[in-house]
Amino acid sequence: MASNTLTIIDNRTGKRYEIPIEEGNVIRASLLRQIKTSEDDFGLMSYDPAFTNTASCKSKITYIDGEKGILRYRGYPIEELAENSNYLETAYLLIKGELPDIERYKAWEHNIKTHTMVHENIKRLMDGFRYDAHPMGMLLGTIGALSTFYPDAANIFDPESRRLQTRRLIGKLPTLAAYAYRHMRGLPYVYPDNDLSYTGNFLSMLFKMTEVKYKPNPVLERALDVLFILHADHEQNCSTNAMRSVGSSHVDPYSATAAAVAALYGPLHGGANEAVVRMLMEIGSIKRVPEIIKQVKAGERLLYGFGHRVYKNYDPRAKIVRRLANEVFEVTGKNPLIDIALELERIALQDDYFVSRKLYPNVDFYSGIIYQAMGFPMVMFPVLFAIPRVSGWLAQWNEMVQDPEQKIARPRQVYIGEGLRHYVPIERRPAPAHLEEPVSEAI
Ligand code: CMC
Repeated sequence: MASNTLTIIDNRTGKRYEIPIEEGNVIRASLLRQIKTSEDDFGLMSYDPAFTNTASCKSKITYIDGEKGILRYRGYPIEELAENSNYLETAYLLIKGELPDIERYKAWEHNIKTHTMVHENIKRLMDGFRYDAHPMGMLLGTIGALSTFYPDAANIFDPESRRLQTRRLIGKLPTLAAYAYRHMRGLPYVYPDNDLSYTGNFLSMLFKMTEVKYKPNPVLERALDVLFILHADHEQNCSTNAMRSVGSSHVDPYSATAAAVAALYGPLHGGANEAVVRMLMEIGSIKRVPEIIKQVKAGERLLYGFGHRVYKNYDPRAKIVRRLANEVFEVTGKNPLIDIALELERIALQDDYFVSRKLYPNVDFYSGIIYQAMGFPMVMFPVLFAIPRVSGWLAQWNEMVQDPEQKIARPRQVYIGEGLRHYVPIERRPAPAHLEEPVSEAI
């Protein structure tokens, strides 16, 4: 009779173990510890560099089926949210678990908007960065600094404090991001305008010049809002794992968010949309597409914006971004890179190399082209990713803090270094035998 257990026979000892298979098709790695060859044996561990097959938490926030190309926040398909919701409502959904009614939405929006300003000292902190500082580095540094402005944030087990820091972070991130951009451009900082929508205010803080009131273009304001919805969460990716892992030490959420921003800064995570735009600029013309595809197939280059660790189908976000691009171009004029991208996609999706490896466009394939058309410099692309992702990070952090199963994140290792050896005074020590580096490199 079928049972929800896994039987393990240890051929070293002949012993047999029954391990329960829990909901979600998982076994508890800690149960492997009972598999020992002797009493003083530590027990079996699983070895999983990069956590490719290890669930670090149970979560109710985001569901992905990579084979079918499905992404849902709290059960709602990403397509329905992109069509009908706005970023602030989606952030509420991620954090609170349900879509708000009208009253709750109004209160939420009001609460976020009353936290859009930052302490004046943040401006001076910003001024301390060099003129050519990367805006993501400025964002990372200033978010970390916020923990010193709000020492009350250390009370992470106080639900009211968690709610307050959540509102502050979502409210202040666009302000910090816009200040970083204005610093880079040598322009005066623009204070938040709370009459505008979340994204409208962000556009105002970025692009307002001498006009008394900035009027965001409604198409671009909505496009940015949709991009924010699409980027709000993506379950246990590198930066979310950083948020949870650093947060598991019970540090305040500003410090944990700074760590998540640092993870997102890396080119393998938040930097791929920039790589796509650089690649398309280098290709330069659709005439070169067949030659580029040949190089990709020969293993000479990557097709940036293609392939995904989880999606083995069209990334559902990429489909929405591709449609959105046309709406944006109606306002900004067409970004000529779109023709190269569409041709690359057309040829790749007919080619056995891509089809057999299940390589489809991911969210980054088209998002950079839109950002560029909207006038954002490439260095701002990861910042535009970080602003909406903060709601996902906070939802995950809130869930972790309240999860009785979570402890400080502390993976095990498999030690492969030297056995015991004893200290020899430096005068009596021979040159290290296995170190081949010359003395000049011994720094
Ligand atoms: N161009 C050409 N070949 C590729 C690509 C690509 N973009 N991606 C994967 N492959 C090939 C890879 O060479 C391998 O071939 P083979 O089996 O012959 O060795 C096969 O496809 C499987 O790839 P993999 O490297 O084992 O897949 P992975 O899950 O480790 O990597 C990835 C996923 C996203 C890092 C990879 O697809 C990639 O480097 N893509 C380009 C960078 C990119 O667009 N990154 C953005 C990801 S979406 C952002 C987000 O959601 O946060």
